[in-house]
Amino acid sequence: MTMTTSSNAVDGREISRQAGRRRTFAVISHPDAGKSTLTEALALYSKAIKDAGVTHGKSTRHGTVSDWMGMERERGISISSAALQLEHQAKVLNLVDTPGHADFSEDTYRVLAAVDCAVMLIDAGKGFEPQTVKLLEVCQQRNLPIITVINKWDRPGLDALDLIDQIGERTRMTPVPLSWPVGIAGHFSGLIDLRARRSLRLESVDGGAKPAVEIEVDPGNLEELEAAKWEAALEEAALVGSANGQFNAAAFADAQQTPVFFTAASRNFGIRQLLDMLAEAGPPPTPRLTADASRRGLEAGFSGFVFKVQAGQDTAHRDHIAYVRVCSGMFERGMIVINPRTGRPFATKYAHRVLGQGREVLDVAWPGDVVGLVNAHSLRVGDSLYQDDPVTFPDIPHFSPEHFAAARANDPGRYKQFRRGIDQLDHEGVVQVLRSDVRGDQSPVLAAVGPLQFEVAEQRMRTEFNAPISLDHLPYSVARRVVEGTADIPDNFRGGELLRRPDGEAIALFGDRWKLGHFAEAFPQAVLQTIGAEPSSVVRERN
Ligand code: G4P
Repeated sequence: MTMTTSSNAVDGREISRQAGRRRTFAVISHPDAGKSTLTEALALYSKAIKDAGVTHGKSTRHGTVSDWMGMERERGISISSAALQLEHQAKVLNLVDTPGHADFSEDTYRVLAAVDCAVMLIDAGKGFEPQTVKLLEVCQQRNLPIITVINKWDRPGLDALDLIDQIGERTRMTPVPLSWPVGIAGHFSGLIDLRARRSLRLESVDGGAKPAVEIEVDPGNLEELEAAKWEAALEEAALVGSANGQFNAAAFADAQQTPVFFTAASRNFGIRQLLDMLAEAGPPPTPRLTADASRRGLEAGFSGFVFKVQAGQDTAHRDHIAYVRVCSGMFERGMIVINPRTGRPFATKYAHRVLGQGREVLDVAWPGDVVGLVNAHSLRVGDSLYQDDPVTFPDIPHFSPEHFAAARANDPGRYKQFRRGIDQLDHEGVVQVLRSDVRGDQSPVLAAVGPLQFEVAEQRMRTEFNAPISLDHLPYSVARRVVEGTADIPDNFRGGELLRRPDGEAIALFGDRWKLGHFAEAFPQAVLQTIGAEPSSVVRERN
């Protein structure tokens, strides 16, 4: 087998230059805060290199509809993840989509492992909502830099200074506003651009279909009533500035500070300021942490890792797309890469800038970019890929599941399809699959963060694998990894059950925390650990 060594031919400086131009980020928010609207507003202000089906496309919008699954269409939620590539001020912005539904937080966690920064979107009328809080926690476990955007300022809402206090309390970061609204929530007439030190009157154009008009004003030259509004905004901004200090790029990169912007995404107010900041001061890719605790230099040979696997997008073609975040070197379509988990080569002939419904062949990608590899049946979430210099990136931790159900094939004659389907769902991370000798292979336990994951699993088993399943919901809500002392624990113990993941890891399920307490007394030799996204078990290290 001959290996393509094209990335060796590329000058390291070119790799650094291209990586330095990349800003890879995700938007996190509670549903309805305006994520889709913001995404489209960002695309309006920048050159969309390729619309990748990010939005869940309401009829009034021009966004590509990522409605590959009937259920997604019916519910109007975005289950699939994709990436949108934009260009602004000669920088390449990779906006990686996160699922909007709380039940898919595990997917979100994986997306957040693939980005260098998050934009946290808050509805000015609602402040912090449950899903925002949950996602914020995930970002903070990864020590991701966060930009806060207070959206819908054109609607009646909370007081700006109160919101700043709330952000400080909730995030434990110092909020540093980089734009400040003129007018209370509901009367958004202008913006103090604190980076550019300009006072801008804003006017919406064509109901938000075009970028907003910005007219520079001199508050000293306005008539008294109008001037008072601008003076008040300048005073408030100065007040926060003296209390919280100035923006500091290093403190932002270290997740100590969160820059704050005020927007009305549906009118395109405040969007340019956010984009400019992302392009000028957003964090570029940095050398990524590897499994052996070293760092993969950006200029090393090509490497990346799979953060999302999606199948069933195109049922006619038995599609299977692995989304890879490039970590180092240059990716070139056709190169042969190695998957260290299997030791096998993988030919990247079908590389796409995916997605949603449309695809475009992608020939070259750089650190920070997202590559969609089509027909990637052998790749799983968390897999590393490299060319030339071997590297393995740390596995993406699992989220702690809270819902459990035993699955059974409705037609025992279709066991082969059943087994294949269940394994596939596990590889994609649609659900986690647990097994035990007592239950046998015919009845694996599916574990999920939210019950909607079960519906996706049921539907995929029925439509894609032609092996409909029945689910028997189990009365467990707590899961722990058993890292030592499994030998003496029976599969069925009082108040719970011991199962294994396909990789052999032992997982104990309990009805509640009381039962967990009983277990500790009954099996004092067992060492338990929380699973995945709980602060005690996740390394506070941004990759
Ligand atoms: P999501 O993706 O976070 O779920 O939110 P989405 O963008 O779909 O926005 C939710 C609703 O909030 C939409 O209204 C949208 O138009 C509105 N919205 C978003 N940003 C702003 C804003 O800055 N100001 C105001 N006033 N509204 C905003 P909808 O009625 O559900 O849909 P549509 O008919 O307007 O498309």
